[in-house]
Amino acid sequence: MAVIGLGLIGGSLAKACKSRGLVATVVGADARAGDLAQGLAAGVIDEAASIRDAVTGADLVVVAVPVKATRAVLEQVRPWLHADALLTDVGSTKVSFVQAVAAVFGQVGPKVIPGHPIAGSERSGIQAATGDLFDRHKVILTPQAHTDSDGLAKLTRLWEGCGATVLTMTAAYHDEVLAATSHLPHLIAFSLVDTLAGEDQNMDIFRYAAGGFRDFTRIAASDPVMWHDIFLSNRQAVLRVIDHFNADLQQLRTAIATEDGARLLKVFTRAKAAREHFSKMLSGQSYVTDMNQKQVTFHMQPGGRVSGDIRVPGDKSMSHRSIMLGALADGVTEVTGFLEGEDSLATIQAFRDMGVTIEGPDKGQVRIHGVGIDGLAAPRGPIYLGNSGTGMRLFAGLLAAQAFDSELTGDASLTSRPMNRVASPLRAMGAVIDTAEGGRPPLKISGGQKLTGIHYDMPVASAQVKSCLLLAGLYAEGMTSVTEPAPTRDHTERMLAGFGCHVHRDGATASVTGGSRLTATTIDVPADISSAAFFMVAATIAPDSELTLRHVGMNPTRVGIINILRLMGADIEVSNERDMGGEPVADLTVRSAQLKGIEIPEDQVPLAIDEFPVLFIAAACAEGETVLRGAEELRVKESDRIQVMADGLATLGVTTTVTPDGIVIPGGQTIGGGRVHSHSDHRIAMSFAVASLRATGHIEINDCANVATSFPDFVELAKRTGFQIREDVSGS
Ligand code: S3P
Repeated sequence: MAVIGLGLIGGSLAKACKSRGLVATVVGADARAGDLAQGLAAGVIDEAASIRDAVTGADLVVVAVPVKATRAVLEQVRPWLHADALLTDVGSTKVSFVQAVAAVFGQVGPKVIPGHPIAGSERSGIQAATGDLFDRHKVILTPQAHTDSDGLAKLTRLWEGCGATVLTMTAAYHDEVLAATSHLPHLIAFSLVDTLAGEDQNMDIFRYAAGGFRDFTRIAASDPVMWHDIFLSNRQAVLRVIDHFNADLQQLRTAIATEDGARLLKVFTRAKAAREHFSKMLSGQSYVTDMNQKQVTFHMQPGGRVSGDIRVPGDKSMSHRSIMLGALADGVTEVTGFLEGEDSLATIQAFRDMGVTIEGPDKGQVRIHGVGIDGLAAPRGPIYLGNSGTGMRLFAGLLAAQAFDSELTGDASLTSRPMNRVASPLRAMGAVIDTAEGGRPPLKISGGQKLTGIHYDMPVASAQVKSCLLLAGLYAEGMTSVTEPAPTRDHTERMLAGFGCHVHRDGATASVTGGSRLTATTIDVPADISSAAFFMVAATIAPDSELTLRHVGMNPTRVGIINILRLMGADIEVSNERDMGGEPVADLTVRSAQLKGIEIPEDQVPLAIDEFPVLFIAAACAEGETVLRGAEELRVKESDRIQVMADGLATLGVTTTVTPDGIVIPGGQTIGGGRVHSHSDHRIAMSFAVASLRATGHIEINDCANVATSFPDFVELAKRTGFQIREDVSGS
């Protein structure tokens, strides 16, 4: 390997490759004889040479000089570069490298693979080089369509050997991303320090400068020559983001000048929330693309009795809807009991991205400064909804009617879920929506369409589809009506009424007429019956148990879990029934009971649709056989919940028979120990945690990070009520 330029990056790469034995020989070349000698003396390189000698016979040539010096160095490399040798670089701009190669070589051959390790530091030079600079950092490679795939694989392995994670993208995209995330912040830091240094009282200003100034301007100590090169090489992309930043800064200036506190609050809360949202993604590194870095494993010791008096977190369905309707209302909506889970937080973030000021959540309290039915602003980029199917389907309806274009994306599980069920009827209303193959996300929605009300007979009983169409119907001309094949949760209808918008109900048909406005209100979100379900089954199957669950939402379209458990013989006492803003609420006391197997009535399936994973655990503990039919929808939830549960149960020694639309579970089987995969599905993970109460051995449940999507306090509450649970968290 020839490394030309032994600065911080070149030196560190040489050192990492040499010390980890990734290449046979590292030959260094540098115009600065002193640095070259220092590199040799410090063991960073094996040999010091001229460019000519370093490149001759090298299999890999790494150009690690300041961006503006690249072309001159490439001129010196060209005569000696072997036809089979890989040529790469480490510069911060990639289009300029491609252009320099094309100018010098007449083309960009398949062995040229531009690279950029995102691992700089404000320190520079060979003396700062370390062999672990790239550990847990990202390296972006920008191959072309004709790039040699073996060469790309080799270079990828080399960087991975240095501890880095390799991403690929086009050179142009790289330059856009880096202009925003790296180049602009450096420019602002240089500029701010320079501005203050030019003030008359500069010594005083610096003397009194506090931590904020130090943190913010640390990068102004970076290498001036390198940054001068970067800005001149990435001019167009940098100019675009400077203009954008200037315009936003100007708006803040105006807000201060005109004492527009609301505008300041809006920008600051949005920025604070965005920073928190993205710090998960940043996780201490410079650039990350996926969110699920964290590996969470539950370790369950067998047995235990369940007792106590608890309130599980707020209802997920209502939490999403409270934000959506609050954002579209006129006035300020106050929400209490909001679920601070990742799914509903993603909904908050989405509205912030569309210009809505939302304060909180703070211990379940949220204040939404509604912008009115036509007040949403275009988001700057795709809206990321994480794991949330409800989010994506409801947003599809709402965004189909907006004046602006939008794109909805999510994590791997959400990306595999069917979206034609909403895209098709929305298209019938006049929406223009593109999906990926097979109707999967991302959804690309073209704004500015005029929607017209339709009547839709839903082929599947889905509250998400119904709600999506009702939301679109708020904007459509005329009436939009939806008939459901079986009753599904009606939170959208109830909550719309609370915002002053009447939803007409005629048997199985719900309808709205477009053109009405929503008026802000207050919403008390009850505890989620779907989260309470885990504890209902837990207290039922664990011996000598008695548990009280407070303030549980008892909407008749959600109580299938109670109906089914009671049919199986559960002891569930309902008390203190009351109405909270249009939604029934009650306290539940659950005591241990010997369950019996049943044929689950099909009309209960949509009313307990999210509770089947834990009901399967109850069935395994029952006497006799439990049969579920008419539940094919379970196969397209966060995972294929029929198969994934059957697989997990099989691991624990419980035999079941899977059918296309359900499962048969013979009861009275011994639940053993073992390692179960939750397939990143929150409800699968929590169901097997419940199974441990009756298991005979230790159960390890993998991939539990997504429990935080719906039940952030699960482990804490499980421990408090008697589960023997330990959580292992690894990764960042
Ligand atoms: C939900 C509806 C249900 C449910 C989901 C939440 C909602 O999905 O499974 O967890 O909030 O509308 P389907 O509409 O797909 O049945």
